[in-house]
Amino acid sequence: MTDNLTHLGYSDGDVDTNRSGNPSLTDIVAERFSRRQTLFGGMSAATLAVFGTTLLSACDDSDPAPTVNAGTSGTTSSGRIVTLTGSATDNGSITRVGWTQTAGPAVTLEDAGTSTATFLAPSVSAATDLKFTFTATDDKGAPSAAETTVTVNPAALGFTAVAKNLADVVTVPDGYTATVLYSTGDPIAAGVAAYANNGSDTNYAQRAGDHHDGMTYFGLSAAGAPDPAANARGLMCINHENINQPYLHPTGATGSPRPYAEVIKEIECHGVSVVEFTRGANGWSYVQNSAFNRRITPFTPMTIHGPARGAAFMKTAYSPDGTQARGTINNCANGHTPWNTYLTCEENWAGYFRRDASDVTARAALSPKQQTSLARYGKGSASGGNYGWTTATAPNAGDTSIAKFKITLDPAKPADGTGDFRNEIFQYGWVVEIDPYDPASTPRKRTALGRMNHEGSWPGQFVDGRKPAWYTGDDATNEYLFKFVSNTPWAAGDAGASNRMAIGDKYLDAGTLYVARFDADGSGQWLPLVFGTGPLTAANATYPFADQADVLANARLAADALGATRMDRPEWTATNPANGEIYLTLTNNSSRNLTTNPTDASNPRAYTDPRTTGGATNGNANGHIIRLKEAGNSTEATSFAWDIYAFGAGQDLDPTNINLSGLDDTNDFSSPDGLWFGRESNASGLVKPLLWIQTDDGAYADATNCMLLCGQPGTVGDGGAKTITNTLGGNSATQATHVGALPGTNLRRFLVGPTECEITGIDSTPDGRTVFVNVQHPGERGNPANITSHWPESQTNANATSRPRSATIAITKNDGGIVGL
Ligand code: FEO
Ligand code: CA
Ligand code: CA
Repeated sequence: MTDNLTHLGYSDGDVDTNRSGNPSLTDIVAERFSRRQTLFGGMSAATLAVFGTTLLSACDDSDPAPTVNAGTSGTTSSGRIVTLTGSATDNGSITRVGWTQTAGPAVTLEDAGTSTATFLAPSVSAATDLKFTFTATDDKGAPSAAETTVTVNPAALGFTAVAKNLADVVTVPDGYTATVLYSTGDPIAAGVAAYANNGSDTNYAQRAGDHHDGMTYFGLSAAGAPDPAANARGLMCINHENINQPYLHPTGATGSPRPYAEVIKEIECHGVSVVEFTRGANGWSYVQNSAFNRRITPFTPMTIHGPARGAAFMKTAYSPDGTQARGTINNCANGHTPWNTYLTCEENWAGYFRRDASDVTARAALSPKQQTSLARYGKGSASGGNYGWTTATAPNAGDTSIAKFKITLDPAKPADGTGDFRNEIFQYGWVVEIDPYDPASTPRKRTALGRMNHEGSWPGQFVDGRKPAWYTGDDATNEYLFKFVSNTPWAAGDAGASNRMAIGDKYLDAGTLYVARFDADGSGQWLPLVFGTGPLTAANATYPFADQADVLANARLAADALGATRMDRPEWTATNPANGEIYLTLTNNSSRNLTTNPTDASNPRAYTDPRTTGGATNGNANGHIIRLKEAGNSTEATSFAWDIYAFGAGQDLDPTNINLSGLDDTNDFSSPDGLWFGRESNASGLVKPLLWIQTDDGAYADATNCMLLCGQPGTVGDGGAKTITNTLGGNSATQATHVGALPGTNLRRFLVGPTECEITGIDSTPDGRTVFVNVQHPGERGNPANITSHWPESQTNANATSRPRSATIAITKNDGGIVGL
């Protein structure tokens, strides 16, 4: 608005010579400061000085003060950048201009001493007015001021949906920029050569691994300590789930017997990176020589903690007392703790192990229980193990780096497993805690959280005095949702502790593991996996449980016995930071049908999706996202309410029975996998937080590459009951379920990835102004002779020829606002 406010004038006189009865400078300043503090909740010293000077000026009517214009009042929403533009004219010259805030929640004004200031609209729960004054001072020191009002509304999606596409690039909305930050093979130690990307590279223990997956950003202070407000420097922990094997070698992998060096390279491409990221004038980059950089691989020494520490089934030739482990593998999704540690989760570990037919025979005779256990985790019969690693021969007799992947028992070795690696497989399937701030620290396998295909382990809300919980999907067809509730109530002071792994012992080594049963009425129960209770005893006919360690290592068998609900492949969990509700992706289930594996209320669809490349897919081809509201909003709850937030589907599928969420061209998706809410340290995680959904899809791959969507969900129960009719294989059946409010325009496609990729892994800086996303396995169906993606080179070079690489990208909004808002 334009407003030539009171002319306060100017005097050349020294205020200290004024001996009148008027208030002293000190008195005036004190009074002004006090009043403004009351009105505005605190003003900076710099602002105070401006008002003091102004007040002490006097008048000179022969020389008018400037005419100022503070622009037009406007409306915005939380998380967006607002630009205040003032202008001033004067008969002489303008010597000083500036903006100050005079009302509303305090914001930080950038370039406040210029005519164009900017600020980030704060988080509000209802429309809120912020007022700003633009002041111009002329060459005689005469100031004038004008005011403008900015009305801030609650956060809302602030981007135009990206179209589905099959381009070999990352596509983000207009107004956003994606930059590639950390790619497979990037060196993370001094003196390690740049990545040649032609199959000749070695030493992945000092390079980025492959298949970037779950990740967490940990703010890093100048002193090298945790800093939850560090937005330009952090340690990124990144899972490296698997490999694009052919591209790691000059002409693809050598056949059996595999060369030792090739195998070691492939193994070391797995694990976790801890790598320093910094943001400078040219944007984000990783720091090759950072002392914090670290690769954790399938060979990194670890210790076993919790109830299974020292268990008989944990004993190996590497750790005869069952307390030590060597490495982690197939690190998929993740979790974190408020005491600044990272949780990496072991998902499809079973496939890496070789089991010969002789072991199936021998173990069935020696230990029928173990045979039952191995079968329940997908290792019941003979298999060669992924990539043929155990066909390689280690050059030195004492080198068991290959041998540990062969679990076939050696009858000549001790029956307790201390002479071979028959038990190695029981050391996987756990959650591993890592201290990113101490590169010398030893990771700890937290066995209290159970053994399964641990997709991730995401925490619920932390409330002082309440026992915290971590939620985990067991990703395999028809598996379960678990929750671990610590025995120790959360003490907020532990967030700042420097003995982080000891704090991990305190919360993660003792507690109760539960599995979910979803009931038809929209409620659910958490069933405790506690040895000695219910069917979890030595009298169990399917699997006689020996103790709590046995229950945890065989969590699937325990959950079977308890009657948990078989889900459509549980993937990531995420916690709405505003209300504690838990979201779970159920990516798809090709075995769901109307006869032998029938639908239920929480897995209600079985149909034929005609779109799949290579033929139609039956079952729940597109997946869905279910959500839970804990009783009393408490992580300690033993019951919950649930409904289904969104059903994946092509927008052209049957809106009555398949595309139940009414998805359209702007937001249709298939096979939800990664899932994450904005951090509560910025507007994207407050009031009505942003939910980010990542896909790992094959069923809609004819129409689009995998994607990242962004939504603003409501709450459990905001929709209602619904009955659908499933038609499959000549059968038809009705199924009642509970569906949330339709997402409508509150769900939009934010990003589409390059060819043959999966979008997985996501976090942001604390301020939400950079979102990091992982692009996994672009070009996964190709090989050096037939390269099917050239990403990330293709991101900036239309004529790219290089081999594809998984990579972490940084996404920023060009105006500096919060990503998504
Ligand atoms: Fe590693 Fe279930 O995705
Ligand atoms: Ca003037
Ligand atoms: Ca996944």
